[in-house]
Amino acid sequence: MCGIIAYTGGEDAAPVLFEGLKRLEYRGYDSAGIVTINDSGEFELKKQVGKVQDIHNELNLLDLSGSIGIAHTRWATHGGVTQKNAHPHVSNNSEIAVIHNGIVENYKELKALLVSKGFHFESETDTEVIPNLVEYWMDSKHLNFIDATMKTLQSLEGNFAVVLIDRDTRTIIGAKNGSPLVLGVGERKKNELFLASDIPAFLERTKNVVYLYDGDMVVFETDPSSKKRSYQIFDFRGRTERPIIRPIQSVSWNLSHATKGDFDHFMLKEIAEQVETIQKAAAQDPEHIQNITQSIRNAKGVFLVASGSSYHACLSAGYLFAKLASFHINTVIASEFSQYESFLKPETLVIAVSQSGETIDVLDAVKTAKEKGCQIVSIVNVVGSSLTQISHKTLLLNSGPEISVLSTKTYTAQLAVLSLLAYSLAGRYEEGVQKLKFLWNIVYNLTAATTRNKIKELATRLATHDHIFVLGRGPLYATALEAALKIKEVSYIHAEAFAGGELKHGPIAMVKKGTPCIIFVSRDTVKTILSNAMEVKSRGGYIIGIGPEPIESFDFFIKVPESNSLNPICDIIPIQILAYQLALILGHDPDKPRNLAKSVTVR
Ligand code: M6R
Repeated sequence: MCGIIAYTGGEDAAPVLFEGLKRLEYRGYDSAGIVTINDSGEFELKKQVGKVQDIHNELNLLDLSGSIGIAHTRWATHGGVTQKNAHPHVSNNSEIAVIHNGIVENYKELKALLVSKGFHFESETDTEVIPNLVEYWMDSKHLNFIDATMKTLQSLEGNFAVVLIDRDTRTIIGAKNGSPLVLGVGERKKNELFLASDIPAFLERTKNVVYLYDGDMVVFETDPSSKKRSYQIFDFRGRTERPIIRPIQSVSWNLSHATKGDFDHFMLKEIAEQVETIQKAAAQDPEHIQNITQSIRNAKGVFLVASGSSYHACLSAGYLFAKLASFHINTVIASEFSQYESFLKPETLVIAVSQSGETIDVLDAVKTAKEKGCQIVSIVNVVGSSLTQISHKTLLLNSGPEISVLSTKTYTAQLAVLSLLAYSLAGRYEEGVQKLKFLWNIVYNLTAATTRNKIKELATRLATHDHIFVLGRGPLYATALEAALKIKEVSYIHAEAFAGGELKHGPIAMVKKGTPCIIFVSRDTVKTILSNAMEVKSRGGYIIGIGPEPIESFDFFIKVPESNSLNPICDIIPIQILAYQLALILGHDPDKPRNLAKSVTVR
């Protein structure tokens, strides 16, 4: 969803902001813009609909002058995809500019108030109320920029990350409430500061990060005589008047994590990285795992809560917890979690799983659970994300940044961590660790060029079809759901998953000559799933088998060696590659599927 980058330093701001915008592209967006303050103290603003590079080709974003500025990629929520609705937005008196991620839920009332005071609006966005409210408070109550911004932030309802810049004082203010915003502190010599929706936006220039919390308002000021730039963090809800001290942490990611390297796309790079990332996810601190295992044992009712691919990982884990540890877990889609509110007690444990740690549905579910006194464990990839901040305990996936919109390496990392928990709960933790180590070789072969080329052949055959069906049983039903999601997201071919046993209850009506049907086979499910394969085959379906052994009824076979409880981790990889190949054949950008955003921060 929307991306934010702000800069103040000794260099020209435009190239820094332009690079930052490019690194934010993966979040999903439809328009972008930059505003700087030039040496004469004037705003220089350019914004347009389209891709960052195309906007630059049309408007030359690099000729904006000045060493301070803010920039934005917009994913439309309020108001269409138009130049006027693109950010930054400027106050009526042209003194304050703003960029914003999230939704101002009470913007209609705020807009009505401002209109009654004579303000006019250029756009259809909710965002435009923000700079105008600041102007209103500065003028009507003679507040300075900082106090007027604080008052404005207090009046906004909803989740947001917002950055404002004041032309007169050359001050930047960023604030966070439920949407992501991190502070980057440049090397001492460079004396530069950044704000961004996520770290890769400024990773090239600094690894020193301050994770901001909800309610934080950070102010960047420049001493007029020494030109030294400094920041202070306040609680904009006014709970403490004194500045808040937050630690500066050094991130272990480097630029190679946030660039494509030798790969054509992040998606392919991240699929290939699974050789390492599954192992990194499995390398958890045993004591921490034991501690969380104990919380699971002690709990009266355990929920696994997540959205999208993360939900599929939970669904898969539910089978594993049952099979290995005879332990029942309630797996719930995050946006549906409120329906279960009456079951939430202080003894309930909620395990929230999220790559980004910023998915609003997951955050909402966790907040509901916390209000009921539940304990929260999160499984997250992004360090310092909102979810980690509101959890009692966190397990990190350690996958490095996932830039492609599609979850690939973090999905298998989630499965690895959840599998460790299941093994631990069964009192077989070491066995789980060993079994995960053993996957290295399988994943290496699955991501190698030979397998990729074979899957390319399959993609060529499937690319002309309008529908693809996917079948699995047990944990591989969850894999089938994830496989269908991967195919849909990036190829836009309709793909639908069924539990094998459900086929005869309706879906088989859609099978006709040539209908492609992907079937996940494991030792446990081979008998039953193969009878489903035969049902499809006898109606003319084209069967793609994924599993340990080729079977006569398969028209196409991809070998994935049997790894028992861990089959879901390896079995999804060929389909990740298939989805990638389909996107290429159909002329889609695998890293930026239409309409999708990397982290979904609006309801
Ligand atoms: O960051 P999260 O894991 O919470 O994201 C959840 C979903 O939005 C995400 O998995 C989505 O379904 C991806 N596009 C899947 O490829």
